[in-house]
Amino acid sequence: MSRRILVTAALPYANGHIHIGHLMEYVQTDIWVRFQKLRGHQCIYICADDTHGTPIMLRARREGRSETSLLAEMHESHLRDFTSFQVEFDNYGSTNSPESQQVCEQIWAAVRAAGLVVERDVEQLFDASEGIFLADRFVRGKCPKCGAPDQYGDNCDVCGHTYVATELIDPVSTISGETPEIRTTKQLFVRIEELHAFLDEWTQSGDHLQPEMANYLKGQFLSEELRDWDVSRPAPYFGFPIPDSPGNYWYVWFDAPIGYIGSTAQYAARHGQSLDEWWRSDDTEIHHFIGKDITYFHTLFWPAMLKTAGLSLPKKVHIHGFLKVNGRKMSKRDGTFVLASTFAGHLDPAAFRYYLASKLGPGVDDLDLNLKEFVAKVNSDLVGKVVNLASRSAKFVAATGLSANYPDDGGLFQKAAEQGAAIAEAYEKCDYNQAMRLIMELADAANAYVDRTAPWTLKKEPDKADELQDACTVALNLFRQIVVYLTPVMPRLAEQVGELLTVEIAHWDDAQTPLVGTPVAKFKHLMQRVTEESVEKMIEDQKQQAEQEAAAQQARDAAQAYNDSDQPLREEALAETCTIEDFMKVDLRVARVIQAEHVPEANKLLKLTLSLGGDEQRQVFAGIKAAYEPDKLVGRLVVMVANLEPRQMRFGLSEGMVTAAGPGKAEVYLLGVDSGAKPGQRVH
Ligand code: 2FM
Ligand code: ZN
Repeated sequence: MSRRILVTAALPYANGHIHIGHLMEYVQTDIWVRFQKLRGHQCIYICADDTHGTPIMLRARREGRSETSLLAEMHESHLRDFTSFQVEFDNYGSTNSPESQQVCEQIWAAVRAAGLVVERDVEQLFDASEGIFLADRFVRGKCPKCGAPDQYGDNCDVCGHTYVATELIDPVSTISGETPEIRTTKQLFVRIEELHAFLDEWTQSGDHLQPEMANYLKGQFLSEELRDWDVSRPAPYFGFPIPDSPGNYWYVWFDAPIGYIGSTAQYAARHGQSLDEWWRSDDTEIHHFIGKDITYFHTLFWPAMLKTAGLSLPKKVHIHGFLKVNGRKMSKRDGTFVLASTFAGHLDPAAFRYYLASKLGPGVDDLDLNLKEFVAKVNSDLVGKVVNLASRSAKFVAATGLSANYPDDGGLFQKAAEQGAAIAEAYEKCDYNQAMRLIMELADAANAYVDRTAPWTLKKEPDKADELQDACTVALNLFRQIVVYLTPVMPRLAEQVGELLTVEIAHWDDAQTPLVGTPVAKFKHLMQRVTEESVEKMIEDQKQQAEQEAAAQQARDAAQAYNDSDQPLREEALAETCTIEDFMKVDLRVARVIQAEHVPEANKLLKLTLSLGGDEQRQVFAGIKAAYEPDKLVGRLVVMVANLEPRQMRFGLSEGMVTAAGPGKAEVYLLGVDSGAKPGQRVH
């Protein structure tokens, strides 16, 4: 029976690019969705950018642009990355959409109506120079327990103590470098404890969560009273305003999961469906895929909100561990914090999908991307076992096509068809590792068949043409069967095989019946071997990018320390680029002021006599009278334009120009030179 399934992956923050750690989840989910679709179920994959919160607001400020322009750029970049990894959403929205806002308001009204909202005074750190309240990650100070310096506002890395930011000793805002002040605000809390009994039941029923996660929740949260959840943030904040609480916004984690519904609303509208068909229906299964770090939000807070609002609860929350690289946490310094775009620039994303599938199980353990194993596995399994089946047989039947009847293969096809059920079961349980193992066993059996029948030898014997066609018919059918089973993991390969064998792979059951009598297209290379060199180059490239990024960050931090205004540049934009030759036409020289006097008839000018060393002197009229006393100038070094065409003025001949900055009048600043410079030296 066909199922209706709505699947989500966690919404990526809009303030960062997609990396391979993210991709593990999106690929895991994409495989599951593609599997369900291939089985003929109505299944949609919903995602969106998670857009709200302080970091986006600060970044937009720093870059001098609106949040929405930043969001549009990141949305496009995220989608580009997902597409290159063959991750295909049915709708990719944004939490900053009217649809999401509307659902936020509906859920909020329900939570209010249920009497779950309370208001309390909260003390918070406020950065007065930036005019914002500081989230925990934007403040550092000494741990109130052990005194360790440079700790964030929520817990200490050194002694593990948790505290509130106002307890930090000598706190400093990481945004402005200033000492924040403590301010009291009114904040809204959801009394989630009221749903304790429901959450006990829902999390512990055995149906919705992996057993280890159900136990974790029981031990960590449900064994005691659930703490009220702080769902509001005071202005200024980039988010949706809370309609019945002026000056307050919903905290990003309130509207983030609601983004799943907002994004579904866009999908439903595009397909002429009602949103309730997906979110208020017993006929729809909702599956969330998330990382273990955000378990709390999806297994306690989110079901509580859905229940209160009368919306459908998830059938299952599939929780996974983190991605490590070579046994260690991904690191920018080691170049293992690999961005999706960097990976795709060096290696085949399909290889990554396969490798992940071969390692992903139904549990929550971390997954290790061992780069040597990655190279070996992709080459041995995909190139050596799977694609090799076609490259050793397809070209021999390009002219004839497949045999009209399926030949005797000793039961190989039938056996592999029967294995379909076990492979499907493994996919369904997210045990992709088991599915890949079963598929590779089939590939081993198929390769043994090709080794035995050796089509390349039959090809040399003209009277064995039928035998050759039969051997290749079997080999290509076994190959196709394997590719059908691999389709959720390797959709592009499935498409290519559809083109090669001239029949599209459209359903899981395509593995049940062999193709006969159909044409075979000219064989085209299906997959490249992966080399260790390309992996090394990718890591090197990522390392360099990280270094450049760190240098840019350092420069930003340094600029922030001086806090120079951008007003001068805004008032006078930079001139057009000039060449070095253009610049060298202007002969700038160090000169000493040897005489300075007022020009009685001119109210802005001083008359200066400048020495270029020896007997070389110039007379210059400079508009600096409002800023400099003539006496104070005598003896100092200045920079002059020495080859400016002399200009006859009312008061005499001006033979050059002294350089100065500033808008004019009293705000004029002569350029000086460091001591040691000599009159007459050229300025380059
Ligand atoms: O942890 C994160 O990256 C969040 N942006 C995930 C949000 S998932 C959902 F709730 F929106
Ligand atoms: Zn400490």
